[in-house]
Amino acid sequence: METDPDQAKALMREAQAGATTSLTELRELVKGINPPVLNERGLIDAVRALALDSPLETAVSADVQLRLDPPIESALYFGVAELLTNAAKHAHATRARIFIIRDDTDIVVEVEDNGRGGAGVRAGGGLAGLHRRLAVFDGTLEITSPAGGPTRARMMLPCASL
Ligand SMILES: Nc1ncnc2c1ncn2[C@@H]1O[C@H](COP(=O)(O)OP(=O)(O)OP(=O)(O)O)[C@@H](O)[C@H]1O
Ligand SMILES: [Mg+2]
Repeated sequence: METDPDQAKALMREAQAGATTSLTELRELVKGINPPVLNERGLIDAVRALALDSPLETAVSADVQLRLDPPIESALYFGVAELLTNAAKHAHATRARIFIIRDDTDIVVEVEDNGRGGAGVRAGGGLAGLHRRLAVFDGTLEITSPAGGPTRARMMLPCASL
């Protein structure tokens, strides 16, 4: 910057172009990894498909059809998949409920089960990974899971719809 501002500017432009290309590539990559139902029909239908696959009786409540930025849809989709897997694996639950709510600034996705509670973030576990993945988008994961249950996990992300 100080000794050769012209070259510094050129480098900055190059870095910016590189970052833009990387983001485009990342979007394409995410599309390739997502299940087709997520790309084609969006988060709500993809979550309904997960609910049908779950061994627990799972209800989905979502008020609107919505499309979000693909990386955000993907993070939430895989988040629901992890939370439903946990409910089936650890909770001794019979039922789960999923709520998808969007307002002007945030998307909230909640997964609740009627199991025995005791969920928490452990190093190296799926919940820790989900926590990190949401943080990339300034999102949060809140878990309420007292002994005896029920367990509620709430993912919240700031977002703008497409
Ligand atoms: N819905 C739930 N009900 C009761 N306990 C849960 C629930 N979800 C998670 N737990 C508890 O919290 C722990 C941490 O969950 P986490 O998803 O991080 O790891 P994991 O499921 O054991 O492993 P992985 O996700 O890597 O397969 C679990 O081992 C389990 O004891
Ligand atoms: Mg897990």
